Amino acid sequence: MCGGCCRRQRGPDGAPVGGRRRGCCGAILAVLALAAAAAVAFLEGTAGGVSYAGDGWLHECAKWDAEGGRFLASTFYGASVAEVRGGEAEERVVLADPDAAGRVALGLAVDAPRRRLLLVYADRLPRIGYAALGAYELGSWRRIFLTRLDVPGESTFSDDVAADEDGNAYVTDTLGSKIWKVSPDGALLGVIRNSTFTQRPGALHNFLGLNGIVYHPNGYLLVVHTSGGDLFKVDPKTETVRVVKVQGSLKRGDGLELLSATRLVIAGVPSRLVESSDGWETASVTGQYVGPIHRVGSSATVKDGDVYVNHLVGFGLGKKKTHVLAKAVFSPLAAAG
Ligand SMILES: *[C@@H]1O[C@H](CO)[C@@H](O)[C@H](O)[C@H]1NC(C)=O
Repeated sequence: MCGGCCRRQRGPDGAPVGGRRRGCCGAILAVLALAAAAAVAFLEGTAGGVSYAGDGWLHECAKWDAEGGRFLASTFYGASVAEVRGGEAEERVVLADPDAAGRVALGLAVDAPRRRLLLVYADRLPRIGYAALGAYELGSWRRIFLTRLDVPGESTFSDDVAADEDGNAYVTDTLGSKIWKVSPDGALLGVIRNSTFTQRPGALHNFLGLNGIVYHPNGYLLVVHTSGGDLFKVDPKTETVRVVKVQGSLKRGDGLELLSATRLVIAGVPSRLVESSDGWETASVTGQYVGPIHRVGSSATVKDGDVYVNHLVGFGLGKKKTHVLAKAVFSPLAAAG
């Protein structure tokens, strides 16, 4: 359609003549661009959220760094971390560890008391095998450690990380459904395995296993199993594992964040708000947020009491893609039963 309008007239020598008609194409493009932007803004309902330009299509995880006053986002194929500040249109890459070049950067956690960032690396699909956890000083970005987690011959895909109050880190393995435990100085302390993690038999239920993880201030981990839709409560000291009895579905749940001791956000499609009044023995899905569904919610973070959902997929025609941290407003779901 636009081609007819843009077709330049050519003189006898084949050279284009007259520039007048080209303006029409520009105008149409501008109108289309405006319409597209309006449609996207409408579709995505990003009111109050943060939208920014960044490298690459995929950003797996973003967390609020309160002291730094910025979001920190992992850039999948960049194997790097970018900071995103409110009011700035573009991300700025702050960390790119040369020893992780060629890998992918996935889950990250801000360990505020120790002023450090924990970052999970994995292999670029379809390769699998490499799994590592890096720790870096917030600000100077000096590396504290980079610890390999994988063992030869085992299929692993390291995914997300949480830190306890002593600075121990817990990294989920989505393929092997286990949890690596790493000390504050980077020593691999052990692996938490339990057949309860794979209680639902079948490839379909275990295609994506343990994924989002969060450390609860009362001393246990909450971990979601993406394909099975189970939420586990794990005591990292005794390594006992319980299935939280949840009313409502948690299938396709990805990154986690605690909004309070009794309220958990599970990013995904849709993102869900889950509440427990008995120390996470039982829980109910009490709210959901759909957001820009085509972008795929993949992690959640809390800034000033508001939940921001990071979306995996960026869009755009240029070299830089637009990424969205949407402010999630949960629609209440009637409590079942
Ligand atoms: C797995 O968890 C169950 C239930 O908490 C516990 O009884 C069992 O000892 C655990 N198994 C292992 C191998 O740690």
